[in-house]
Formats: sequence, C-alpha cells, structure tokens
Amino acid sequence: MLIKRPNDIPASEITPQSVYLRRRELLRAAMAGVGAAVGGAALLSAPAARAGAPIADVRPSRFSTDETPTERELITSYNNFYELGTDKGDPKRNAAQLQTRPWQVVVEGACEAPGVIGIEDILRDFPQEERIYRLRCVEAWAMVVPWVGFPLAALLKRFKPTSQAKYVAFETLYDPKMLPGQRRRVLDWPYREGLRMDEAMHPLTMLATGLYGELLPSQNGAPLRLVVPWKYGFKSIKSIVRITFTEDEPPATWNRMQPNEYGFYANVNPDVDHPRWSQKSHRMIGEGLFARKRPTLKFNGYGEQVAALYAGMDLAKFY
Ligand code: MTE
Repeated sequence: MLIKRPNDIPASEITPQSVYLRRRELLRAAMAGVGAAVGGAALLSAPAARAGAPIADVRPSRFSTDETPTERELITSYNNFYELGTDKGDPKRNAAQLQTRPWQVVVEGACEAPGVIGIEDILRDFPQEERIYRLRCVEAWAMVVPWVGFPLAALLKRFKPTSQAKYVAFETLYDPKMLPGQRRRVLDWPYREGLRMDEAMHPLTMLATGLYGELLPSQNGAPLRLVVPWKYGFKSIKSIVRITFTEDEPPATWNRMQPNEYGFYANVNPDVDHPRWSQKSHRMIGEGLFARKRPTLKFNGYGEQVAALYAGMDLAKFY
C-alpha cells in the first residue's frame, strides 16, 4: 500500500533539506516585512516566474507515497518530450527555447463557462500541494517525483462542464519556433491526450506546476502538465494550452500512432504486456542498469482508490 495519511508525514521528509531550508528563508524574509508586498503572490509573479523559482505556500498532500524521491538532477535530465528532441537528454539541452511566460490555457467545449486562464492566475487561485507520485513509463523505467500542483477537478469545475462532457481532451503548445522537435513530423503535432470525465475528476489526477518546491523546468512540461499516477507516463501531457470537454473519446497522440502498443486507457497493468516488452517489472532511474528490477503493481499501487472506475471493463481489451 503506497498511500500515507497526512499526519504520518513529517514535513521534513517530503523534500530534501536544502529545498526546505530555502523555503524557510523565504518565509522569514516575508515575515520580517521586506514588506507586506512579499506575500505568496509576489513570490510567484514578476521576474521570478522562471523554472526553478520557488512556489510559495505549498502544502503537503495526504496522497503522497512513502517512497524516496528520485534526485532532482535525474528527474530533470532524463525526459520524454519529443517537442524538445527524441533523446532522453535533448529536452534539457533544448529547454531554454521554450518560453513559458506569458502562457494561457483555453478551456472550451461542452461547458457553460468556456474561457481562457493565465498561468499566474492558475498559480494564485488554486492552492498548491506537494504530492510525491511515481511516474511509471511504458518503457519499464520509473522515477518518484515530488510534484507540486493541484487537482485537475478544481480547474475543470470552474468552467462548468455540462452533462454532455464525457471526456476531457488536452493539447500541447504547437510552436515550431520554440519547440524544435515540431519542425519534423516525428509525431502528429500538436501532442494530444484525453481522459474519461470520471478519471479527470478523480482526486488523484493533478495538474503539475512544479517539482521539488519550484516551478517546473521546461523539459518536465512547464508551465502546466498533467499527472495521472495510475497510468503510464505518456498520458502525462506537457505544456498544455487547450483543454476541451468532449462527448466522444478524443484522439490521443501515441494511441493514434500505434494503437496496438499504446491504449487510450494506459492503466499501469503488469498483466498486460506491451507488444515489445513485459510490463511486470521496472527499473528505478538512478539505480543503474544492473539494479534489481521491482515488481510493477496494478494501477501503480493506487488500485484501492481507482479500480472502481474500471469495474466491468476488460482491461486486456481496454488497455
Ligand atoms: N507530452 C508532450 N507534449 N510530448 C511528449 O513527448 N512524452 C510523454 C509525457 N508527456 C511527452 C509528453 C511520455 S512518453 C512520458 S514517459 C512523460 O511525458 C515523461 O515525463 P517527464 O519527462 O517529466 O519524466
């Protein structure tokens, strides 16, 4: 069982000490009255709105796992983000090309209040939590990430989805000037993903704005990316600019490219192998190629919370 209750988690256990110490320094600066102006909002805005800037007032979450987070350096240098290159090291190398301010997200489709919301408003309006989740990739590697973000449901509710909204579709920025990978048709750009409405509204589903207490680096999907801890990593669409409520199942990039390898549901499932490799176990990034593989748990260990979403579905068919 992966989940800890909030009072089981001492704050000091959640982020490395260095991050914690910096957070406390910032808090002290604010309280020492560098002025009333140095509140949470000020820490988030202005020139600080860059990757690596601290996010203020991050609360621990009861949904965190008790696993030790992977080192920050590894989380930010071994990435899948084909818009910034197809090698694992490319996204970090090309990260500076993606400018994430200003940034707006359009929310539309089957809802009563379609609109546009800017990233600064998102950071200000939705209380930010730290949630330590494992990211399990279909290539059978995994890392444990101290994400910062908030439940996707909170944002979706603001736009008042109607009863027609059966799915939620997501789209990454399309801008070949800033995203060099989009100058070649490696994928059918823009990258798209989708969730069923009940998956999207589930309290474990989050929009991440940061990791290790700081704004997301571009290579990890700044300024806003999806994290669904019981699904394979490719559902975690990065650098989102559009969210659409739909009546029909929306297109998802990898599913449309290779439907026999990447199902729309993409639930972590050791019983359903990828056509080219087993999904029974995985390797933790940072432990080396010869480290013992770990058994992969169904729904990545979140079965108690999410199995009911798929009651009656044949998960070998809807993989
Ligand atoms: N989102 C976009 N826009 N483009 C991508 O290539 N790759 C996906 C997902 N989101 C991808 C994406 C895959 S395959 C994985 S495993 C995760 O991002 C990796 O997230 P990370 O780089 O933060 O580890």
